[in-house]
Amino acid sequence: MKKFLGILGLLLLAAIAVVGVNMPSSFWSPDEINLLRSLSLHSLPPLPPDKSNRVADDPRAAVLGHKLFFDARLSKDGIVSCASCHIPELNFQDARAHGRGIAETRRRTPSLVGSAYFSWFFWDGRRDSQWSQALSPLEHADEHGGSRTQYARLMETFYREEYTALFGALPNLQNVPAHASPVGDANARAAWDKLTNVEQQTISRVYANMGKAIAAYERRILPGASRFDEYVDAVTRGDSQRANEIFSADEIAGLKLFIGKANCVKCHNTPLFSDDAFHNTGVPQHAETENDLGRAEGAVENFADEFKCWSEFSDDEKRDCPHLRYMQARAGESIGAFKTPSLRKTQYVAPFMHNAWYTNLREVLEHYNRAPAAPYGQTELEPLHLHAAELRQLEAFLLTLPAPLETAPHLLAP
Ligand code: HEC
Ligand code: HEC
Repeated sequence: MKKFLGILGLLLLAAIAVVGVNMPSSFWSPDEINLLRSLSLHSLPPLPPDKSNRVADDPRAAVLGHKLFFDARLSKDGIVSCASCHIPELNFQDARAHGRGIAETRRRTPSLVGSAYFSWFFWDGRRDSQWSQALSPLEHADEHGGSRTQYARLMETFYREEYTALFGALPNLQNVPAHASPVGDANARAAWDKLTNVEQQTISRVYANMGKAIAAYERRILPGASRFDEYVDAVTRGDSQRANEIFSADEIAGLKLFIGKANCVKCHNTPLFSDDAFHNTGVPQHAETENDLGRAEGAVENFADEFKCWSEFSDDEKRDCPHLRYMQARAGESIGAFKTPSLRKTQYVAPFMHNAWYTNLREVLEHYNRAPAAPYGQTELEPLHLHAAELRQLEAFLLTLPAPLETAPHLLAP
């Protein structure tokens, strides 16, 4: 009898061992493993070339753009730079509800990590290239608040050599007013209107080139491998022991929810955990102060932008811009939609959402669980009916995504 029990015990142990070893293949189906791999950084393709920006991958342009990004002289009062709001140590965010430059911005500062992979910029996608995006805050009254001729002159004073090496000689700016811009205050606009078309065009070209150099820098701000990527590697190798060392049971359960019952991957997909598209997720708004229609407004603004995809400032000879034309046809469908943010980061920086409505991840997850009615348009979410324990597991999984950047450290400081 004793002997029989001993054998039974051994058999049981063996069975447990077999189940344990087989865990990844039995726990994750082949389809799930494929999905996990599609989210891994290994699946991130090399940065697609930006044909609209001739210097996008020119290292000299990245050096110049790096300097411009941190240069507070590029502002109305000499104290605002891109890095005032996009702080490298804070995942290129600022931990505020509204970005603060000359005044406060309308929406929350998003991260720049991996943003060169996107086709649309801003929460409402009102710019269609990284370089045209960079031009917008420079002249915006609430952000840098400077003017186009001011910036052209600053390039001449401080960056003449670097600029010339990349883009050719600067135009003669001797007789150009100190502050003139087509989008500035009334004085700046009046001064701009007095310039000839050729003068306006050459100054705008200098301005566009500044954006192209900044974009070349931003292309270097790339996500690094996280614990999630290590986990996927181990699962793909069939190394369950290693996989279970990397992730806790809660983190595994949270990942299962993320790609399964909670269907977060519907929008947070690809290795950047963003589909580069716009969705109405019903984030509440302060009706009186916000009145934010998101993508529906951004699409219209994109067409009004003088630096848009098919403008003369693009370096792409063809300029056929199919994505922009397609978008034009669909603009009306996207009331209340905002761009899916990437979940790749160096750390989670609260508050969350385009308008900073939620102050922690738990609140974000409760939002998805409830799926409230949208303030404008129709929410795409459905209530998830998850238990508190499942929400905790989802949160545990989300916290496996942050990792140090795949970016040379000297690029993260002035
Ligand atoms: C005053 C704070 C502030 C300053 C200064 C600022 N930004 Fe931003 N940035 C924001 C805010 C807020 C948004 C989102 C605005 C919106 O979507 O309406 C944003 C959006 C962006 C985006 C879009 C990211 C995405 O995924 O859609 C990029 C890229 C960016 N900024 C780069 C820059 C660069 C380059 C500069 C300097 C030329 C700069 N920003 C200056 C606050 C700032
Ligand atoms: C229908 C598309 C969609 C689905 C499904 C979805 N998200 Fe989102 N997610 C978005 C959009 C769009 C935003 C930005 C919304 C806004 O700012 O108004 C967002 C924002 C977030 C943020 C805040 C990021 C930040 O920087 O502020 C987190 C975290 C997040 N989602 C996690 C999740 C999780 C976890 C799930 C699954 C429970 C999920 N999402 C499901 C589209 C989606």
